[in-house]
Amino acid sequence: MYRSHSCGELNASNINQEVTLSGWVQKIRDKGFMIWVDLRDRYGITQLIFDEQRTPKEIVSKAKTLGREFVIQVKGTVIERESKNPNIPTGDIEILVQEFAILNEAIVPPFTIEDETDGGEDIRMKYRYLDIRRNPVKNNLMFRHQVGMKVRNYLSEEGFIEVETPYLIKSTPEGARDFVVPSRMNEGQFYALPQSPQTFKQLLMVGGMDKYFQIVKCFRDEDLRADRQPEFTQIDCEMAFVEQEDILTIFEGLTRHLIKEIKGIEISDFPRMTYNQAMKTYGNDKPDIRFGMKFGELNEVTQHKDFKVFNEAELVVGIAVPGGASYTRKEIDKLIDWVKRPQVGALGMVYVKCNDDSTYKSSVDKFYDQEDLAKWAQVTGAQAGDLICVLSGQTNKVRAQLSALRMEMAERLGLRNPEEFAPLWVVDFPLLEWDEETERYHAMHHPFTSPKPEDISLLDSKPGEVRANAYDLVLNGNEIGGGSIRIHDKETQALMFDHLGFTPEEAKEQFGFLMDAFQYGAPPHGGIAFGFDRLVSILGGQETIRDFIAFPKNNSGRDVMIDAPATIDTDQLKELNIKLDL
Ligand code: AMO
Repeated sequence: MYRSHSCGELNASNINQEVTLSGWVQKIRDKGFMIWVDLRDRYGITQLIFDEQRTPKEIVSKAKTLGREFVIQVKGTVIERESKNPNIPTGDIEILVQEFAILNEAIVPPFTIEDETDGGEDIRMKYRYLDIRRNPVKNNLMFRHQVGMKVRNYLSEEGFIEVETPYLIKSTPEGARDFVVPSRMNEGQFYALPQSPQTFKQLLMVGGMDKYFQIVKCFRDEDLRADRQPEFTQIDCEMAFVEQEDILTIFEGLTRHLIKEIKGIEISDFPRMTYNQAMKTYGNDKPDIRFGMKFGELNEVTQHKDFKVFNEAELVVGIAVPGGASYTRKEIDKLIDWVKRPQVGALGMVYVKCNDDSTYKSSVDKFYDQEDLAKWAQVTGAQAGDLICVLSGQTNKVRAQLSALRMEMAERLGLRNPEEFAPLWVVDFPLLEWDEETERYHAMHHPFTSPKPEDISLLDSKPGEVRANAYDLVLNGNEIGGGSIRIHDKETQALMFDHLGFTPEEAKEQFGFLMDAFQYGAPPHGGIAFGFDRLVSILGGQETIRDFIAFPKNNSGRDVMIDAPATIDTDQLKELNIKLDL
């Protein structure tokens, strides 16, 4: 028996018991005649004491050979500790060691295995198995497990069946590039790894499964960010005989349940907002509604004077930054530099200080009088003491820029409280999105999303204005889920592919299996997928999903621990009939 107890469970009630513990040596304090060792396992830390007076001599001298991260097994007696440590559950006791064995030695780890480590991100990723020994990482993984269990139980209770779908498939377009896998048995042909199980879950509805879910890996070859990994996990769901309202109700229920169970917070308000409203009010389709600073469109109250910049702009829009009137000239200049950074891309920023005596001081006093500025304040909801920041230009660009500024100011003002949860449905997304690069319309969600019936007639004349039965779930400014009611008849699906620029042959070649299935009695259906990594990290109070993934990739998509991706040898290439021309 390696252990009778874990390193996290012994306390004063165990005093005088003989116990066996196994774990890693976290810390050694050698006072010559007495040695203390902190022994760690997943459950906690227990202090061991080797005392020349009370421990056999050879055991004490063997203890002197221990190093950090050695794996040992000890037998001894639980005794009361002289200097107690109230910070840990085992802090009242220590183990007076009588016997011990070194189960495995360890070379010196490249960073300290403690909550506050001296290891940088790169080195911790290379030795991720050591990083996982640290509480912050270990706790995140345990937290992820808990959230996963709650999700599974909830959905199972609601009648959902978990079904596994294949990973070696054909392209499922979700807007990213595919990762592909060559097939040895089918020369010159490739599988694509699923960007999502989208088509399979729809086929499961045709198969009559009615309520499906799966906690499933998805693969997308796209640029990486804090909230994106090339392989990530979805809580993927689909239901038959449902309308949008049914889906929103069920998954609002799941979201409320998780926030209640995990954080103990009852969500009172679960608002909905159309895509157009979100863009107009927050410049963003995933607004963080934990704080205000709503957009005020100022075209009407700015375009009647000689200020050319505003007069020529498609959109003039501002936000009121609380307390910003006290910023110094230097601080405001810095803010202007911030919006002019290439990542944000504004050409400049106009500002108005709303003074406590109800007067205004702006950077464009030459053009606008107090009466004008009072109107700006009214539109942006600015109070005395606020700073109105105004950007102008092409609508989409300006909205994105001001949204970035809004988030930055909220961050600086501490308005993004990670312990507050503000979920939101964004609904009525456009069906299609114009892509400047390919000069074509793309499906904004994916090509299987149904248009709103009342908008179908616009498909030819104003494709950009057709709304979809598509919705996103937003939590604290992060898109944590997205879904839609699907097309379930062959004709509409063919019409959709046609509008996306597929020839009938291409559509048949790529998605013939789905359109065929639709001919055999496909029920009306719809669904949603949550980004599981994102959900877990936000519930965990953070926005970097890497911290909640056991073995994540770095920003270049590399696993630096196993050193992947890597070249493969020529025999393997030959077998796959792949010729590299490097
Ligand atoms: P969508 O593409 O919106 O929808 O993806 C669903 C959710 O998955 C998360 N997500 C990601 N998380 C981490 N890394 C990534 N690279 C990444 N990409 C997406 C997001 C997102 O909201 N098949 C549809 C769902 C449906 O229609 O039912 C789909 O995949 O949180």
